[in-house]
Amino acid sequence: MDKFLQKGKTSGSGDASSSKTTKRNSPSKKDSQPGASTSGKSESQFSKFFAPKSTNAVKKSLPWVDKYRPKSVEEIAFQTDVVAVLRNALKGNEFPHFLFYGPPGTGKTSAILAVCRELFGMELMKERILELNASDERGIGVVREKVKTFAQYSSSPVRPDGKPCPPFKVIILDEADSMTQAAQAALRRIMEKESKNTRFCLICNYVSKIIEPLVSRCARFRFKPLPTSVMKERLQYIAAQENVKIESKALDALIGAADGDLRRAVTLLQSISRLMKDEQITKDDVLELTGYIPDEEIITLVDTCKLGNYDHVQAFVQQLIYAGYGAGQLFSQLEKQILENDNLSGDQKASIIERIAIADHRLMDGADEFLQIMDVGGAVMTALA
Ligand SMILES: Nc1ncnc2c1ncn2[C@@H]1O[C@H](COP(=O)(O)OP(=O)(O)O)[C@@H](O)[C@H]1O
Ligand SMILES: [Mg+2]
Repeated sequence: MDKFLQKGKTSGSGDASSSKTTKRNSPSKKDSQPGASTSGKSESQFSKFFAPKSTNAVKKSLPWVDKYRPKSVEEIAFQTDVVAVLRNALKGNEFPHFLFYGPPGTGKTSAILAVCRELFGMELMKERILELNASDERGIGVVREKVKTFAQYSSSPVRPDGKPCPPFKVIILDEADSMTQAAQAALRRIMEKESKNTRFCLICNYVSKIIEPLVSRCARFRFKPLPTSVMKERLQYIAAQENVKIESKALDALIGAADGDLRRAVTLLQSISRLMKDEQITKDDVLELTGYIPDEEIITLVDTCKLGNYDHVQAFVQQLIYAGYGAGQLFSQLEKQILENDNLSGDQKASIIERIAIADHRLMDGADEFLQIMDVGGAVMTALA
């Protein structure tokens, strides 16, 4: 895991901050010695990762998440209900306040940006769209101030290119579920007051964290988790565009590691392809770089627990920790295995999952990984005895 973080850092993980600096960094990387590793054993492995970048490195360092963001509503995959309504909104007659919710990386931000781009055109986007996300200061005062100044001026119903466009502005509040209740309450008033000139689009993961009066003022849309097939198609398209050679099995592993989050999958694909350069990406590469634990290890863990010998379980867990696997990752994979295991009764599953949940929570509080895995191991032993 640590190894991965190191590599990830050096290569730029593909998020906004690193992408900003990549351009600046790439020339100096060209000067650095390839494979300047001190340990002889891992030399070849390191040279694979740290070799100088190819000439199109700068182009490649654009975050693919932005590069391949759907440009139009039609390009939004899978979210058919939402797309149908947005298409109507585009016809111009219906543009309510929106509330988009659903798991990360399913197209929420892309959807509203695509609608706005189609409505206002690229030129007007800056003028008409205010995007506030959780990293911006969003106390009541700030929201009120920013929104007020932005919404104040009325907007013309024609675009610079002469086409008609809606006479309002759009305020996108990304990660709205991280706003305090008080800020949300204040927002409610602002929404009422400014609705002549302004439409709001609230985006969040959990609709339950948005106060009822806000929810009831919006047209609500749930973004469904993307099925594996949709994710795979999209990743294959990106890989083809970027000339990335990747095995089908490697893509499956990548999708597994991304856990339904297409953004994460795209970012991972970019990081890995940067590290691998022109080599074919294999399943093993993906597993190694994502910290994904091979399924066989999890099966062996469960089987070892089944034998009921505490010492064996301890030895195996110790070995997993030495191999650098993280407890959080182990829990999420173990949970999946347990849930999908047809040989277990409902009671057995329930008692194990409960303990995983508790241990996972303790991990966040900073508990010791080994002890927590052993605790879960003990629960599995008891349940399977
Ligand atoms: N439904 C989708 N159709 C096409 N691409 C998608 C979809 N969902 C996510 N993506 C891809 O994932 C990236 C992140 O999507 P985003 O809209 O920011 O997700 P969210 O806001 O739901 O977390 C986008 O750049 C896009 O490439
Ligand atoms: Mg988003």
